[in-house]
This record gives sequence, structure tokens and C-alpha cells, in this order.
Amino acid sequence: MTVSNETRVTHFILQGLPGNEDLQIIFFVMFFVMYVLTMAGNLLIVITIYVDSQLHYPMYFFLSNLSFIDLSFSNVTVPKYLLNFILQCKKIDFTNCLTQMFFIHFIGGAECFHLTLMAYDRYVAICNPLRYTTIMNKRVCFLLVIATWTGGLLHAFAQAFPTFELSFCGPNEVNHFFCDTHPLSVLACSNTFISETSDMVNSGTLALSCLLLVFLSYAYIISTILKINSAEGRWKAFSTCASHLMVVTLFYGPCIFIYMRPSVTFAADKVVSVFYTIVTPVLNPFIYALRTEKVKKSMKRLLGRNMSFLGIETK
Ligand SMILES: *[C@@H]1O[C@H](CO)[C@@H](O)[C@H](O)[C@H]1NC(C)=O
Repeated sequence: MTVSNETRVTHFILQGLPGNEDLQIIFFVMFFVMYVLTMAGNLLIVITIYVDSQLHYPMYFFLSNLSFIDLSFSNVTVPKYLLNFILQCKKIDFTNCLTQMFFIHFIGGAECFHLTLMAYDRYVAICNPLRYTTIMNKRVCFLLVIATWTGGLLHAFAQAFPTFELSFCGPNEVNHFFCDTHPLSVLACSNTFISETSDMVNSGTLALSCLLLVFLSYAYIISTILKINSAEGRWKAFSTCASHLMVVTLFYGPCIFIYMRPSVTFAADKVVSVFYTIVTPVLNPFIYALRTEKVKKSMKRLLGRNMSFLGIETK
């Protein structure tokens, strides 16, 4: 490119969420509360599972990994948003902006694969209980976890590189609350056909195929559950499946909506992306881990021990 340095964009302005000042304060408080809950909930799960050797089984390792992913994911977008609001400054450096975009796709991709992995894990546990320990042995688990991160990384490279190649010389106002491929590519002054097409194929196909695999696993699970004799057992299993499917849909649905189209940006995009960047990480611990009796018990023990250490009475 023959764009001179003077006209190159050195930073971007993150325009944030729509609405007047009052609404901005409500958003800020909401994001802040969700951020604190995300950190506290997920950290507690990681620590509980790490400390309690009774929980050193594949299912719990996967839960702990999911919490770790959620913690990291939330840290890519929310602190910058909160800080910019507090400082009343909407600036983000060029490099930081691209880095943020890369990590959203890296960790988001890992989350996408990991949720699929967890659905598969439940499928094997419920539909193939006798062979579960042989299929999900330590080595396989470890490899599967490595695979989710590698998958996320490859996805991020494929998604972010075409955007890294773009030139930005004109307007620098990003119509979003974090840097992402679509809001950036509408600002580019070079041709965005390749980056747009690859984004659409990459993210769209990824989210859609993961969602289909999750649905398939749960279809098998539900058909197995229907054969359970006790009505109570059936109901419990059903409600667990339903809650998993709900959060999974809250994650993949918005991803499909946002990425599976060219870079026309809709006003709804910002609000829709709140779901996969902020709502999913805060809901996951409640839906996955805190519905699991063993994790809940172990967590209570852990908290109780530390409370009495601090001289606070617990029953
Ligand atoms: C993630 O899963 C792997 C393999 O099961 C496990 O060894 C590791 O401790 C887990 N990591 C976290 C942070 O939970």
C-alpha cells in the first residue's frame, strides 16, 4: 500500500453501546456486576475442582476448563469497556484493538469447541456408561482439551489475519464496545472482500457446526433419558439438558447471527454480542457447575473451612 504514515490510523474510538447518559450508567453497573460475578463464580469453580481430589474426573476437569475459558473471555472485553467508561475516554490503540480482536476469536473459538466437547462427554457418559472410563481416559481428556485450545488458535489466525492485512486511513470510530472483525472492516480503506468472505465462512460455519453437534449429542441423550423408568429421574435429567441447551443456544445463536453474513452492521449487533461475550461467561458456572451436587458440596466445604480459618462461624 502507498498510504503515507500521516493518514494511517494510530488509534480507534470505541463508541460503546447505544443510548443516552442514563442508559450508559445502567449498562456500566450491569456490566460491572456481571464481571464481578463471572470472576468470583468461575474462580471458585476452578479452585474447588483443583483442591478437591474427589473431583479429579473428566467431567469436572471439563467444567473447570470451561470456567477458565469464561474467566479469560470476559477479561478480553469487559475491563477495557469499564475502564473507558470510568475514564470517560473512548480511545483504544491500534495494536490493542487488533490484539483484542484476535483474543476474542481465540478464546471464543476455544469456548465454542469446549462446549461441544462437554456435550460429547455427557453423551458418552449417558448413552455409553459402561465404556465411559475407557473412552474418556486421562490421556484422551488431556488431548481433547489441547485440541479445543488449538482449534481456537487456528480459528483466531484464520479470522484475524485477513483483518490485520487491511489498511485504515479514514474514520476511526468503531461502532461497537470492543474491536471485532465486522465493525473494523467497515472502516477499512482497502478492499475487504477477502476478509469478509473468510470471516463469514470461518466463524459462521464454526458456530453452526458446533451447535449442530451439540444438538445431535443432546438428541441421543434425550432419547436415552426417555427410557428411564422413574418420572423423577426423567424430570431431573430433562431439566439439566434443557438448561445446558439454553446456555449453549445463547452462545452459538448470537455468533451465528453476527458472523454468518457480510459486514453490514445492524444496530442490534452490539446488544446481541453482549450475550456471547458477557452473559454466557456469567451463566455457565450457575448452569453447569452449581447444578452438580458434588461440586456444590465440595464448594461449601471449601468455603466453610476458610470461613472458620478467618474466625467466621459457619454451621
Ligand atoms: C483442563 O483439563 C485437563 C485435562 O483433563 C486438566 O488436566 C487440567 O487440569 C484442566 N485445567 C483447568 C484449568 O481446569
